[in-house]
Amino acid sequence: MKQYAIKGGNPLVGDVEIAGAKNAALPILAAAAMTDETVYIDNIPDVRDINVMLDTMRNIGVAVKRTGRHSVMLNGGNITNLTVDDESCKKIRGSYYLLGAFLGKYKYAEVVLPGGCDIGCRGIDQHLKGFRALGAEVVIEHGLIKARAERLRGSHIYMDKVSVGATINIMIAATLAEGMTIIENSAKEPHVVDVANFLNSCGANVRGAGTDVIRIRGVAKLHGGEYTIIPDQIEAGTFMFAAAVTKGDVTVKNVIPKHLESITAKLLEIGCEVEEADDCVRVVSSKPLMHTQVRTLPYPGFPTDMQPQMTVALALARGTSIVTESIFENRFKYVDELVRMGADIKVEGGDTAIIDGVARYTGASITVPDLRAGAALVIAALTAEGFTMVDGIQYIERGYEDFYIKLQNLGAQIELVETEKDYQKFRLKVG
Ligand code: EPZ
Repeated sequence: MKQYAIKGGNPLVGDVEIAGAKNAALPILAAAAMTDETVYIDNIPDVRDINVMLDTMRNIGVAVKRTGRHSVMLNGGNITNLTVDDESCKKIRGSYYLLGAFLGKYKYAEVVLPGGCDIGCRGIDQHLKGFRALGAEVVIEHGLIKARAERLRGSHIYMDKVSVGATINIMIAATLAEGMTIIENSAKEPHVVDVANFLNSCGANVRGAGTDVIRIRGVAKLHGGEYTIIPDQIEAGTFMFAAAVTKGDVTVKNVIPKHLESITAKLLEIGCEVEEADDCVRVVSSKPLMHTQVRTLPYPGFPTDMQPQMTVALALARGTSIVTESIFENRFKYVDELVRMGADIKVEGGDTAIIDGVARYTGASITVPDLRAGAALVIAALTAEGFTMVDGIQYIERGYEDFYIKLQNLGAQIELVETEKDYQKFRLKVG
C-alpha cells in the first residue's frame, strides 16, 4: 500500500509552482460539454478528481484529448448518454456539475448522487431548488438525481445557504435558459468567478460573479474557445502554511495574491512575514508562532479548506487558540491523529477546536481522513521529531499535484513508499 514516509525537522526553503484550481476546473470541464464546438482548456491540474471527471465525460461520449499534462481538448458534439452513473464518478463531488450542464443543453440529465470528502452532511437541496425554479422537474430515484424540463426559463432565486456548488450549478444551467436569472446570496469564491469568465468566453452573458448577486441572461447556444484556469488558492495556502509551520522561507509562485488575502492576514497575525508580488507570495517564519482565533466563512472569509492547515500551525503556537468551523459539520476528524502526534486539542460541540500550543509534534503512524486534513497532517509530520508514516494518501492525490515531490524540492525529507524495503531505504538515506 502506498504511504508517505516522513522524517521531520527540515525547514522548507525555496520556490514552489502552484497548479490550476481543481474546484474551478471541475465545473469548467462540465460546462465545456455544453457546446458542440471544440473547447481547449489550459492549466488543468493533474490530480485524481480531475482525471476521474475526464474519464466520466469520455464514458458518456464527450471527445476528450489530453494535449499536454495540463491541457485538454474537449468536444461535446456527440454525447451519447445523458445518464452519468459510472462507479468512479460516485466518488467525486464535481460530477454533479454535469447535471447543470446537461439540463441547460439538453433539458434532461441523470447524474448519480455525488460523493466527495466525508466532512459532514453535504446537502444538495439548493441545487435542486435552483433547477426547479428554472422550470425543471427534479426527482431522486435509484441513487440518481433526475432533472427534466420542457423549457428552462430564467428565474429569481434566493439561496438559503451560501453554496459554492449550487451557485455554480445553477449559473451553468441558467446560461442556456430563456430570459434572465438572478441568483441572490450567491457564493463569491474565486472559482465561481472563473466559471463565469469561462462561460462568458464561450458566448454566455453572466454578470456579477464575485458579488452576492449574479445575473445571467440566457443565450441560445455557446461556442468553443480557449480558456486558462486560475491558480489553486488552497494549494497555495497549503504551501504558505507549510512554510509557517516548518520555520521556513518559501516563495509560492503562480498565484493571485488577492485570492490569498484571508490566509495572508492569519499568517501575519500568528507572527510570519508575508511579501506579495504580482504573481507570487513569500512566507518567512522566523519567530515563535502566536495564538489566535479563526472562524471559517464563505469567501472572502477564511476558507474551510484551510482549516486543518491552520489548526496544525496553531497547535504549535504559544497560548490558547480557538478554531471554529462554520461551513461543514464534521471537519475535525483529523484532530485525533494530530493528538497522537502530541497536539493538545479538544473539540467541543463538533465545530470548535480549543488548542493549547505545544512545543513540538512527535512522529507516529497516522491515517488521513480527507484531502485537506491529509495535507495538514503531512505538514505536521514535516516538523515532527522522528519518523511519521502517513496512510490514506489517495485522498491527498485527489487534489494536490505532485505533493510529495514539491515538498522534496523544498528540502522536505518525504518519500513515497510501497514496501518495507522502500521504507528501510528511506531511513538509511535520511539517517
Ligand atoms: C465546494 O464544495 C468544494 N468542493 C469544497 O472543497 C469546499 O470545501 C466547499 O466548496 C466550500 O468552499 C468542490 O468544489 C468540488 P458548498 P461544495 O456547496 O460545493 C451546505 C476540497 O477539499 N449545502 O459551498 O460541496 C453544505 O452542506 C473540497 O477541495 C446545503 O446545505 O460546498 C455545506 O455545509 C472539500 N445544501 C455548505 O452548504 C446545498 O444544496 C457549503 O457547501 C449545498 C450546500
